[in-house]
Amino acid sequence: MSDHGRTNPDDSVKEELAQIASKLQIPSCKRHVFLCIGDSCCSQEAGEKSWKALKNLLKEQNLSLSDSPSACFRTKVGCLRVCKGGPILVVYPEGHWYFGMTADKIPEFVDRQIVKGEPISEWIFATNPLS
Ligand code: FES
Repeated sequence: MSDHGRTNPDDSVKEELAQIASKLQIPSCKRHVFLCIGDSCCSQEAGEKSWKALKNLLKEQNLSLSDSPSACFRTKVGCLRVCKGGPILVVYPEGHWYFGMTADKIPEFVDRQIVKGEPISEWIFATNPLS
């Protein structure tokens, strides 16, 4: 309902979206990771392997779709505009930009950055927290 008692067609969409957000545990997420799998910064194979490793590990450790204190939302993207030294990954709210995030680095990334909140400085090339 709008302020004037009329039904707003956007209200039902908004309600459905709120339910989807709730199922995805969006309100519980402490971090959001964006991983680029675009072929200008890494091979498609490397990007896909890295994405699969991130997705599986977050699920295995109950960090995805959960209300864990280290719950993390994950999104794969086609380009983060860096286009070099990929796979490129950025994590918020810290705003740490990681390079060379091949699948073999994902377990250490999840353990240190996501679970312990400890940045891995040797893999970070820029930082800009947006809080
Ligand atoms: S393709 Fe990965 S940053 Fe552009």
